Amino acid sequence: MASLFHLFLYITLLHTSINGFNGHSIKPPITARPYFSCGGGVFRYPFWHQDQPSGYCGYPGFGISCGGDGSGPVLRLSGDAYSIMKINYSENTLTLRYVDINNGSCPRAPHGVTLDNSSAFSYTARNNMLRFFYNCTLYPPSLPSMECLRHGTKRSYVFIVGAVPEFDWSGYCETTATVPVIEKSVGGDLVDDFGRGIREGFELTWRSDGGCRSCEDSGGFCGYGGGDLHRNFFCFCSGGRRSSNCHNNGVVPINILQPNFAAIGTVVFGGLMVAATFFYFIQRRKIGLYKPVGPVK
Ligand SMILES: *[C@@H]1O[C@H](CO)[C@@H](O)[C@H](O)[C@H]1NC(C)=O
Ligand SMILES: *[C@@H]1O[C@H](CO)[C@@H](O)[C@H](O)[C@H]1NC(C)=O
Ligand SMILES: *[C@@H]1O[C@H](CO)[C@@H](O)[C@H](O)[C@H]1NC(C)=O
Ligand SMILES: *[C@@H]1O[C@H](CO)[C@@H](O)[C@H](O)[C@H]1NC(C)=O
Repeated sequence: MASLFHLFLYITLLHTSINGFNGHSIKPPITARPYFSCGGGVFRYPFWHQDQPSGYCGYPGFGISCGGDGSGPVLRLSGDAYSIMKINYSENTLTLRYVDINNGSCPRAPHGVTLDNSSAFSYTARNNMLRFFYNCTLYPPSLPSMECLRHGTKRSYVFIVGAVPEFDWSGYCETTATVPVIEKSVGGDLVDDFGRGIREGFELTWRSDGGCRSCEDSGGFCGYGGGDLHRNFFCFCSGGRRSSNCHNNGVVPINILQPNFAAIGTVVFGGLMVAATFFYFIQRRKIGLYKPVGPVK
C-alpha cells in the first residue's frame, strides 16, 4: 500500500505547509517576516526551510537546510554548501563560510566560490577577493609563501585578485581557488592572515526577487507552490494568498496552487487504489456471505 502511504503523506505535507504559511508569525495583520527555527537559530523570510516539498514562503534559491547531521544551517550557491554565520535583514546582507573549515590557523579553501549570473546574491563592497595557488612546484623565489601549507618542496601562495604577480601560476600549481573574504578580516600580511579570512567568511547582499516586488510593496510575502520544476508564484497577504499582490481581489484557492503533477497523480492513483481495494473486499465479502447459504441454484 505504498500509494496509500503516499496519499497520507501528501495530505499531511500539504496540511503542514499550509499551516506553516499560516504559522504564529503571519496571522493577520502581517507585521513581521515569517520565520522558522533551523539548526539552533531563527531565520526569516525571504529564507525558507528547505524541507517544504509542496511550497514555500520566500525566494527561489533561498532555501536553508537545517543540518540534522550537526552541520548547522546551510545555504547552497551554485551547488556548493556554505554555513550561514550571520544575516542582517534590514541591510539584506548575509555572511557565509565554507562548511567543515577547520578552526586552526591554516585552513585550505576546498574550492572557489561561484555565484551564478542569475543569482539574487552578489558580493558586498566589504569583501576582498583572494586568489590561492596550492602546491606549486615552481615559483618566483622572492615571494613569501604560506608556510603552514608547505609540502616538501611544494609551496602555496595567496594574493589579492588584481595584484597577482606575473607568473605562470596555473602551469606550476596543482590547484587554484578564488575566494572572497571580508576585507577587515585580513590585514597587511596575507600569508599570515588568510586563515582568519577564510574562517570569518564572506559577505553577500541579496536583491528583491523581481517578480516579487509588487507583492512586497503591497505588504505581502512572496511564495511559490508546486516545487522547483513547476513553480507557481503567489503573494501571501493578511487576507490569504493572492495571485500577484495584496490588492488583487479574490483569494487563490489552495488546490490550484499545487501543480505538483507527481503528487496529484499519487493522490488520484491512491484514490483509485482505495476504491479498488474496497471494491475487492466488498466483492469477497459478498461471495463469502453467499457461500454458506448453499449451492447457488
Ligand atoms: C544591520 O545593519 C544595520 C545597518 O548597517 C545596522 O544598523 C544594524 O545594527 C545591523 N543589525 C544587526 C543585527 O547586525
Ligand atoms: C574556534 O576558535 C574561536 C576563537 O579562536 C573560538 O571562539 C571558537 O569556539 C572555536 N570553535 C571551535 C568549534 O573550536
Ligand atoms: C555569465 O556572465 C559571463 C560574463 O558576463 C558570461 O560570459 C557567461 O556566459 C554568463 N553565463 C551565463 C550562464 O549566463
Ligand atoms: C598538496 O599536496 C599534498 C601532498 O603532497 C596534499 O596532501 C595536499 O592535500 C595538497 N594540497 C592541495 C591544496 O591540493
